[in-house]
Amino acid sequence: MRSNDVPEARPATTTGAVSLREPGRQVQRYARRARRYDRETWLVNALIGRAWRRRLFDGAAGRLLEVGVGTGGNFRFYPPALEAHAVDLTPAMVAVAEERACDLGTRVTLSAMDVCALDFPDASFDRIVATCVFCSVPDPVAGFRELRRVLRPGGQVRLIEHMRPESRLLGPIFDRLDGPFYRRMGFHIARRTLGAIAEAGLAVRVDRVRLFGIFHYLEFENGAGSSCAVS
Ligand SMILES: C[S@@+](CC[C@H](N)C(=O)[O-])C[C@H]1O[C@@H](n2cnc3c(N)ncnc32)[C@H](O)[C@@H]1O
Repeated sequence: MRSNDVPEARPATTTGAVSLREPGRQVQRYARRARRYDRETWLVNALIGRAWRRRLFDGAAGRLLEVGVGTGGNFRFYPPALEAHAVDLTPAMVAVAEERACDLGTRVTLSAMDVCALDFPDASFDRIVATCVFCSVPDPVAGFRELRRVLRPGGQVRLIEHMRPESRLLGPIFDRLDGPFYRRMGFHIARRTLGAIAEAGLAVRVDRVRLFGIFHYLEFENGAGSSCAVS
């Protein structure tokens, strides 16, 4: 597992201090929640809405990778003609996703895998998607570097993420609550994920925001470029 040395708790940071034990702790947290995860996350799912999830897959063709697939909440939106692969760090979440894929008849190859050490060749995917994952990944910059590595030239990453709101009122409140949320639930509410994406050398092309800038729908690809915010 990789680590870096910038403390997560500092509001200006783009990435977190990662204890070598942290991925193991994450697995334990999500393993405990796997069977009740769908019930616990109904509000977040309602806030994200179906339109954004559907958009993750618009125009997707060839090989698709979903990272941090969780219990497979996006399976119903997978276009049928794709070769789909989905990974998650937590085997217990993958097990629930397998059941859902079976129930829905979704054709997807599922594996327990760390987004920071993907067992796929370079440039092997046309589209990579994730929803609410990089709030949980102990080292998000390392995760985005891996996405960059396995994305083929001209391919696209589409994400839905919640992040630290930029509001002067809400930002500091989220900073204060970040630690307790992470320890209890396994995700950060004050991540500066756009910074982590830039640090990994990826250029955001589309950034749609919702709910005081907490939820973002993002599209980006490999290489340099200007970022464009659309609310
Ligand atoms: C908040 S859940 C989101 C699940 C799903 N994408 C959804 O929208 O419901 C975060 C997921 O990321 C996974 N995760 C955390 N760290 C990871 C890592 N390093 N690599 C892959 N998955 C990871 C967790 O196991 C968990 O299933």
